[in-house]
Amino acid sequence: MAAGGGHLREARVDEVPALEDILREASMIWPEHRDDLLAHPEAVEVPRRDVRAGRVRVHEVDDLVTGFATVLTLPDGDAELDALFVRPALMRRGIGARLVEDAARRARDGGAARLVVTADPHAEAFYARCGFRTVGTAPTRFGPAIRMHRELPP
Ligand SMILES: CC(C)(COP(=O)(O)OP(=O)(O)OC[C@H]1O[C@@H](n2cnc3c(N)ncnc32)[C@H](O)[C@@H]1OP(=O)(O)O)[C@@H](O)C(=O)NCCC(=O)NCCS
Repeated sequence: MAAGGGHLREARVDEVPALEDILREASMIWPEHRDDLLAHPEAVEVPRRDVRAGRVRVHEVDDLVTGFATVLTLPDGDAELDALFVRPALMRRGIGARLVEDAARRARDGGAARLVVTADPHAEAFYARCGFRTVGTAPTRFGPAIRMHRELPP
């Protein structure tokens, strides 16, 4: 599939289990997370309230959801990329970058001046390629992560 294939749309509540399968599979590409995820299956969750509120967008090709992204609004008005996962078999085809561009556009249209993310260190190169810069580190339940920002000029 070419990077421009497929389309983006809002997620539906009935597809939450499929999104959680993608989350689980995608997270397990980093070997050090496998045991954590197997020990804490409850960590694999796509909150239905986020889907109902229109915060979750999916990329779809021929009725197959290939990846998704969740964007939250922070109290200071920044937007946070809270989840971004692509089916492992379909990685490196531009789907993650498209979901980021969609998230950035929607956040900017919603008035945010910045899109922020707490990134797995493995994903730092991806986010750098998508226009984010590293601003620090942040602890997570699965170990240290990297805090990254992307400005959203009007
Ligand atoms: C991170 C993730 C969302 C990227 O999605 P993707 O669709 O594979 O990414 P893209 O194809 O859009 O990549 C765009 C560019 O980012 C960079 N990139 C992507 N994955 C990379 C990797 N593993 N290592 C280094 N650079 C990477 C490349 O420059 C790539 O362009 P190229 O393929 O032409 O070289 C996906 O790998 C994923 O779901 N990972 C597991 C979960 C995860 O870590 N999510 C982020 C949570 S913070």
